[in-house]
Amino acid sequence: MGKDVIVACDFGSGAEALAFLDRFPGGRKPFVKIGMELFYAEGPDIVRQIKDRGHRIFLDLKLHDIPNTVKKAMAVLSRLDVDMVNLHAAGAGEMMRAAREGLTRPDGTRPLLIAVTQLTSTSQEQLEKELYIPRPMEDVVAGYAKNARDAGLDGVVCSPLEAGRIHEVCGAGFLTVTPGVRFPDAEKDDQTRITTPAGAKAIGSDYIVVGRPVTKAADPVAAYERCIAEFVG
Ligand code: C5P
Repeated sequence: MGKDVIVACDFGSGAEALAFLDRFPGGRKPFVKIGMELFYAEGPDIVRQIKDRGHRIFLDLKLHDIPNTVKKAMAVLSRLDVDMVNLHAAGAGEMMRAAREGLTRPDGTRPLLIAVTQLTSTSQEQLEKELYIPRPMEDVVAGYAKNARDAGLDGVVCSPLEAGRIHEVCGAGFLTVTPGVRFPDAEKDDQTRITTPAGAKAIGSDYIVVGRPVTKAADPVAAYERCIAEFVG
């Protein structure tokens, strides 16, 4: 399992997403993240179209429901032949194990299954006062990551700054998929806990998720190649 750069295709329509991907005709095909916006706008067809163009796909739908419902939904997603899917670790161990079972295809293969621990938009204050979890955020994130590992998941989505601690707690083979990456000379946008592609590599991220630094770049292919050069090397 090599390190890779996942490009967040945060577009509101399939036409925009495909026009963006048209800019990568040859060479390395980006690993693409399809999130709720694009999936809810276009449905499973956009996943098939992007897959047919030879891209690997992280389907970022963050499932969270009762175990039986998640298991059945994951079985449907496994038939889309995506490479990575995710869920909320807050659904607890039984839900995560059910998800893994549902995701496993009849031939025993399955996409990578990744857990969201706590959303990076959640503050310490919200954690304590609204989610009623009176513990330091980093302990909660590490505890949820351990739960995900114990349920047989492959890794977690986390801030690149948390990747080192997650590897310490869950082992080097447990994957860290990290958004919040910016070039040193660029806008932070609304991200706060950020690092550069080279910084994420040094901390030990396995996959970086990069959106606007590539999608909004004047030359998206050059920006993507720069991420690859700095992160994958
Ligand atoms: O444009 P930018 O590089 O900030 O995009 C990062 C992508 O990663 C977006 O699709 C965003 O929704 C996603 N993400 C994130 N932080 C998380 C989880 C997902 O930025 N904690």
